[in-house]
Amino acid sequence: MRMYDLILKKKHGGVLSKEEIDYLIEGYTAGQIPDYQMSAFLMAVCFQGMNEEETLNLTMAMARSGEMLDLSAIHGMKADKHSTGGVGDKTSLILGPLVASLGVPVAKMSGRGLGHTGGTIDKLESFPGFSVAISNDRFIQNVNEMKLSIIGQTANLAPADKRLYALRDVTGTVDQLSLIASSIMSKKLAAGSDVIVLDVKCGSGAFMKTYEDAKRLAETMVKIGNGAKRHTYAVISDMNQPLGNAVGNILEVKEAIAALNGKAPEDLMEATYALAAYMLVGAGRAATVEEAVSLLKEQIQNKQALAKLAEFVKAQGGEEAYVYEPERFAKASILHEVKADRDGYIHAMNTEEIGMTSLILGGGRETKESSIDLTVGIVFEKKIGSKVAPGDTIAVLHANDPEKCRLAERRLLSAISIKEQPIAAPKHILGFVE
Ligand code: URA
Repeated sequence: MRMYDLILKKKHGGVLSKEEIDYLIEGYTAGQIPDYQMSAFLMAVCFQGMNEEETLNLTMAMARSGEMLDLSAIHGMKADKHSTGGVGDKTSLILGPLVASLGVPVAKMSGRGLGHTGGTIDKLESFPGFSVAISNDRFIQNVNEMKLSIIGQTANLAPADKRLYALRDVTGTVDQLSLIASSIMSKKLAAGSDVIVLDVKCGSGAFMKTYEDAKRLAETMVKIGNGAKRHTYAVISDMNQPLGNAVGNILEVKEAIAALNGKAPEDLMEATYALAAYMLVGAGRAATVEEAVSLLKEQIQNKQALAKLAEFVKAQGGEEAYVYEPERFAKASILHEVKADRDGYIHAMNTEEIGMTSLILGGGRETKESSIDLTVGIVFEKKIGSKVAPGDTIAVLHANDPEKCRLAERRLLSAISIKEQPIAAPKHILGFVE
């Protein structure tokens, strides 16, 4: 087999066999296929596409390119959730303990924030002492004992994807459906859970800007997951404004704790219940989504999910007292109200720009090595559909540096569009793929 022939085959619209796909992923991972040939192949895929079987084979080859986590020592059906990346998305912090409190094991690998989006690991590290650097054995033991553990993504998870993603980034080949779907799903399949619930976001703060693109991606990923014998579901959700009111690590953890106390913005709970319900249905813990939602609501009311968060934080070295007394968390030194300068209704919030505002305040990373300020961020008092008058507070910036606060205010105001005519608040959940 020669890479040259595979490039030509795809260029002419041919369908690659499993052996051919294995050859190119194994060869590329081993450094035997050079970047220039792989770039040509990726571009041919962008023009000719891949069918379902090719996409599944590509995903499996990438998943097998490194360590496949063996979670068979964990009893029961393990459930995982993955978001395609958003702003203010703290659902993992809420649904992890919620689902675990109902006895369904959640063995999760999460990432750090990069660019304008946040990451669960950074948020969890807001609890003093909390560590995601635990051994695989301890990870498995914790899940068996308390049904929940969250660790960082290991370096050897789908290394082919790591190299391919970096190459796609510089060769204009990121935005191809089969390539995106296989990239995301290879990591999820390698991470070993039996149930995979995907939160595919669409809108100004998301990778997919339109509903149609998000739906096609969701359908492709669900097919891949089911093809790999995992129970896979997708929820398509709106990312034309931040999820909930808080953006920024400690601020989001506090909002998640409030949610587990039954006090959360509606969109955040809607997202959490939709995703967690599929985790329960997929794991066989509930027969229907409706039954699952009523079980989940009960776990909030009886505070079992909150207790599970405390147990989980303690088990990974964190101070559980913060769960019950969130006022203990460190606070930013400057609280600055960003106000409306005219009458009207909030029509649009450029969510990527809002993520960038948090980054300016010091809450996000510009490179993987950057350190972050866990205390800074934004808390919104108004979102799309809200009526505002001059002087009304739209959001409160939490900052530690007056100059950064000034820059952030300017950026935030330019991300928000106020118009005279009323507009309804948008729906958060836009669709499902089962
Ligand atoms: N996220 C990924 O992990 N891969 C992609 O290709 C796009 C988003």
